[in-house]
Amino acid sequence: MTALVVHPAAAPLVGSVPVPSDKSIGHRALLLGALCDGHTRIRAFSHGEDNVSTANCLRAMGVTIEEPTPTELVVHGAGLFGLRAPDGDLDCGNSGTTMRLLAGVLAAQRFQATLVGDETLSRRPMMRVAGPLQARGAVIAGRPHPAKAGEIVAPLVIGPLPEGRDLSPLEYESPVASAQVKSAVLLSGMYAAGVTRFREPTVSRDHTERMLGALGCPLRTVGPVVEIDPGGWNRHLAAFDVTIPGDLSAAAFLVVAAQLVEGSRVTARGVGVNATRTGLLEIARDMGAGLAIEHHGERSGEPVADLHAWSAPLRAVPIGGETVPRAIDEIPIACALAARAHGTTSIRDAGELRHKESDRIATMAGVLRAFGVDCEEKPEGLDIDGRAGPLEAADIDSRGDHRIAMTASVLALVARAPSRVRDAACVATSYPKFVATLRALGARVDVES
Ligand code: S3P
Repeated sequence: MTALVVHPAAAPLVGSVPVPSDKSIGHRALLLGALCDGHTRIRAFSHGEDNVSTANCLRAMGVTIEEPTPTELVVHGAGLFGLRAPDGDLDCGNSGTTMRLLAGVLAAQRFQATLVGDETLSRRPMMRVAGPLQARGAVIAGRPHPAKAGEIVAPLVIGPLPEGRDLSPLEYESPVASAQVKSAVLLSGMYAAGVTRFREPTVSRDHTERMLGALGCPLRTVGPVVEIDPGGWNRHLAAFDVTIPGDLSAAAFLVVAAQLVEGSRVTARGVGVNATRTGLLEIARDMGAGLAIEHHGERSGEPVADLHAWSAPLRAVPIGGETVPRAIDEIPIACALAARAHGTTSIRDAGELRHKESDRIATMAGVLRAFGVDCEEKPEGLDIDGRAGPLEAADIDSRGDHRIAMTASVLALVARAPSRVRDAACVATSYPKFVATLRALGARVDVES
């Protein structure tokens, strides 16, 4: 498996670069494109492996997806009721979003399908989506979790929904702020025999709501509640054209790298800055980061901006509460800011990190210590003591977690000697050009196979 050898930055990082298309929006564009009537064109698509998993699952259910150019897809919508039974298992790879969003759609189908994933995905909890879907009559079975009673993991066998029976209306209060759970429930709500009402503790990313609303689904958001009332709806989604904004979750690595390497000036262009995703930018600003957001209006219903980042002295701040769901995928890279901030940064309310591609609280604690940064693991977060001067060179096992591999690579830029990041092929799940981009900014990264 590929390892990266990241050298300490010998000079400031400088440049203006694009970032890959937003992974979350990419999944939704593919999935909703498949359920539309007509042809949906998806522009600025960057083929991260997770998005490709969604595309391949849809193809396996009879959806034609063409690639007229390297960055464009055309999805020939099958309509809300046009998916076909797949011949084999639907392979979601490493992608939790693929598995959980598809579960919402498959819950309403008259055929059976089995969702499988790689080793990491097969350890992640699935009752959070199976529970509400079963509550509305869906047929879903999983493998019992080896350690947690009542929990299930993939493979998930879903359907068929018996002829003559529809999914029932549902009022659901989610115990976790999760866009994957919310999306699964809302997607199933398009097929239900009555109203779906979903509430979560704080608002998670709202890309599904934006896109569904734009395509004609009778969805409305009332305060913290999202509602779909399909009564009187013809159950057709309109085909659409979407240009996917750049992924803030990918840009975050560049913004933070620019803070860490003294003298750096980096611009990440065309980045989605939906307020349900911008927690990391707020955290960085509170810490004193050099950051300017140059807004460019909306692209396909999502706000877009260029992010200008430059190195600045950082101070520790508390991180917690409603900011955490809006920075959920950026907490690892926020730990890298904390590692260089003056004082102790406390991260709280982040227990969900234990259910990501790895247990990101435990994994980050290990990564920080390997770089010589003192930290203390908490049940729902970390305390991190910032460290001035070069970090220790480290040998890191990413545990197959893309965001850990990229965070470790950024920390390595300020270590005293080259660091090795093992099991780094996973970077391609969300940021296939990560190494090329770091190099374009002036960093030295060697790839070992
Ligand atoms: C995502 C939701 C989040 C996030 C994931 C992508 C999505 O997961 O961590 O990377 O696209 O809906 P949760 O819903 O589990 O918080």
